[in-house]
Amino acid sequence: MKPRALKDGIYWVGAVDWDRRLFDELIPLPDGTSYNAYLVMGGEKTALIDTVDPTMTDVLVKNLRDLGVKRIDYIIANHAEQDHSGSLPAILDLYPDAKVIATLRCRDMLADLLMIPGDKVQPVGDGEKISLGDKTLEFIHFPWVHWPETMLTYLREDAVLFPCDLFGSHLATSDLYAVDEAAVYEAAKRYYAEIMMPFRNIIQRNLEKLKGLRIDVIAPSHGPAYHKPGFILEAYRDWVFSPPRNLVVLPYVSMHGSTKAIVDYFVSALVERGVKVQQFNLSRTDIGKLAMALVDAATVVIGAPTVLGGPHPNILYAAHLLSALRPKAMFASVIGSYGWGTTVTQQIAQILSPLKVEFLEPVLVKGYPREDAFRALDRLASAISERHRKHGLT
Ligand code: FEO
Repeated sequence: MKPRALKDGIYWVGAVDWDRRLFDELIPLPDGTSYNAYLVMGGEKTALIDTVDPTMTDVLVKNLRDLGVKRIDYIIANHAEQDHSGSLPAILDLYPDAKVIATLRCRDMLADLLMIPGDKVQPVGDGEKISLGDKTLEFIHFPWVHWPETMLTYLREDAVLFPCDLFGSHLATSDLYAVDEAAVYEAAKRYYAEIMMPFRNIIQRNLEKLKGLRIDVIAPSHGPAYHKPGFILEAYRDWVFSPPRNLVVLPYVSMHGSTKAIVDYFVSALVERGVKVQQFNLSRTDIGKLAMALVDAATVVIGAPTVLGGPHPNILYAAHLLSALRPKAMFASVIGSYGWGTTVTQQIAQILSPLKVEFLEPVLVKGYPREDAFRALDRLASAISERHRKHGLT
């Protein structure tokens, strides 16, 4: 993709990675991604905002050449992670007079991760500005979205916010702007769930810093830019601030059908009581979909069969993920079948303990479920439905 103008003197010069299917060797990317870098040409000076993943350095270099960029005065490193800063060494080789602008913490991380010499980096404080002539870049310290060194860059005269990962989406598209709102909403929610949700409370506090700023365009470093910023700001307000919904998320595994029979009965019992459910077979599911469901869920119930006395390994994986993602969930429980003995409940409760959820009476069934198991599942479904009602969840 060739450079494209966002506004006068502001160009997208990044790379679209249509084929990437995994990030961090963990996160599925069903729709690819992009590494957005932006060139801001002021009357006197030129700044490059973020770079690209090192696998696509050649694309960034070609885009800069296509625009005839002879000199870069500043390279803004909003974030040290390699998908945005990984091309910094190559760009510094090409433009040796450029100064890297970053937070103090980012300077240290760039040295640790990419061996960028400290004297190449000019640290900036919160609210500090640099002038490009007729354009002014202002730096807003915004730590923990999603690393400790992160900041946002605001271009005051054009009212453009460059927030790097924040508000981004893993979406490869030929659209410069988010015109297909349904597709972008889905990708941005997935991105929020996987990357930003663990830092929800910090984001809540930090969003205050954006109040009062005029923002015409949000240009993140993944996915399309937002020419209607209200679209993504309102979505974030919902994901970050709204109470959870009347929803149970039910990740499960079933080896011989007994846990599946328990899950099936339980899902019906919840639905009969007016509770929505999203169930995920962990042997097949896309964990991004599970993460997205967790953005809204008030309750998580794990359907766990017992293997060698404890939870199936896929369940352990999901429970650790759940604990790390820090969703808004208020209640949790475990259901499942075992053959002769089990420590499933203790192990899962221990893994989920950082979430501070109310742990409701689990239903562990020896063998295939019968009448007494169904009554216990009814009681658990009623307990969940009553709690959701009591908290006014809709
Ligand atoms: Fe897109 Fe945290 O890097």
